[in-house]
Amino acid sequence: MSFTDIIALVIGAWLFYQLAQAIYNVFFHPLSKYPGPLIGRITSIPCSYHTIRGRQHYYAKSLFDKYGPVVRTSPNTLGFISAQAGKDIYTHRNSSGAMIGKAWEYYRTPGMASTMFSSEPKPHAALRKSVNPSFSERSMRAQEPVIGEYVDLLVRRLREAGNGGQKALNMKDWYTFTTFDVIGKLAFSSDFGCLEGSNYHPWVHMVNRALLNSTILNELKRLTTKHLMTILNLSGTAKNTQERLNITGAMLSKRMEAGSQPDFMDPFIQGKDKLNLDFDHLKSNADMFVVAGSETTATLLTGATYLLLTNPAVYEKVVAEVRSSFASDDEITLTSVNKLTYMLACLNETLRRYPPAASWLPRMINRGDAIIDGNVVPQGCVVSVYIYSSHMSEYNFTDPEGFHPERFLGDSRFANDHLEALRPFSVGPYDCIGRNLAYAEMRLILARVLFNFDLRLSDDSKDWLKDQRAYGVWDKPDLYAYLTPVSY
Ligand code: HEM
Repeated sequence: MSFTDIIALVIGAWLFYQLAQAIYNVFFHPLSKYPGPLIGRITSIPCSYHTIRGRQHYYAKSLFDKYGPVVRTSPNTLGFISAQAGKDIYTHRNSSGAMIGKAWEYYRTPGMASTMFSSEPKPHAALRKSVNPSFSERSMRAQEPVIGEYVDLLVRRLREAGNGGQKALNMKDWYTFTTFDVIGKLAFSSDFGCLEGSNYHPWVHMVNRALLNSTILNELKRLTTKHLMTILNLSGTAKNTQERLNITGAMLSKRMEAGSQPDFMDPFIQGKDKLNLDFDHLKSNADMFVVAGSETTATLLTGATYLLLTNPAVYEKVVAEVRSSFASDDEITLTSVNKLTYMLACLNETLRRYPPAASWLPRMINRGDAIIDGNVVPQGCVVSVYIYSSHMSEYNFTDPEGFHPERFLGDSRFANDHLEALRPFSVGPYDCIGRNLAYAEMRLILARVLFNFDLRLSDDSKDWLKDQRAYGVWDKPDLYAYLTPVSY
């Protein structure tokens, strides 16, 4: 047999295998009875392609709009958008008794030690239990002076930079500076100096790059081989992760020398032997807190600013509420912002319309067949609620493309909304531990900005929301607005 014959044989065998696999996927796979596009039933390439392009959320939404609330998005994956599906999926044990866990292939970053976020249920529960008290509402209130100090600095910097409302400011940057400084201080007692220097710390740029890289690499890993991954890892991505972890490591070493401190890392540092955390694990967890707790909140605030400024009636109403509730800036505190019910509805509507974690949170059915929103899904399948699709579906919300804070305030126009389908922080044992902190920061920062400034969107940001890509969180463009100081 000649060399050409061998090549032809190998190619023929490969084609035959692909054809057999395609026939199995379409007609005999346990998910074959579920609706979805033919190509997505044959191969996961379309899903991966859209994910790599940062457009998974739009692709998934188009599928749910066409096929209904349960869609086979790729051969082994079933996607959902209902509130009940969220309850059934994001639990360790489904009502049928099936065991469900994170689909790890999407959650682990090459070159990084595991974190609480990427740990199996048992170590996860121990880590979460140790750090939970730091995230209670009471702890958040105790952190008020720390958060307040950065918000004071933000307002000062906005006044200085805005030149009396003459110069458009990039609100994306200013919110990002603030949330990174706050989380640095709360997580490991050391900020990034972003507000102080009115500039990005290099670490912050690395985080944006890392979210994009890890989403793309996880998809490529599934489509190609580990060897290709090794090559890709060597080129750039691993270097980026390593550089970021080196900076985190230096900050953490300094932090550990300071002894016990009232920050999120303290329970991990003090309990490191019991929790089995060496320096690499401590470093990855510190990194996790900063990544999870900064970009998300900054994204939400940037989105809220855009949505308010493009909905003038809502903007006027929320400004009136904030300014009539306080006589001076000093009165605006983490506790007093609780009375701003309309502003809270605006933030919740932003979480719906522009959820910072925009894409999916995949889970694997590890043992037994699960019942998800009344559908039997066999062991070995991946299941997920697609957050953006769920929030933007007429199945769950009236006029989902619009911006209607009133839907959270009992307005009868939205009586048929399924508010339980609003899951921006997910649910279950791996849900967002930072939810209270996120609300505290969002409410304080937005109230202080609206109290101190009249805002106007710059013309070049009019289409800001259109066609945004997302890699885990939105890859948001700059958002320019003019801020005219208000005198009282
Ligand atoms: C608007 C702001 C935020 C949103 C929308 C958000 C969203 C989420 C979501 C959807 C998850 C679940 C991820 C999954 O299951 O794969 C999550 C987990 C997490 N979030 Fe947030 N988050 C926000 C702010 C914060 C803040 C301020 C912190 C502070 C440190 C934080 C820390 C975390 C951590 C540590 C986890 C992992 C929890 C675990 O695995 O037990 N988040 N977040």
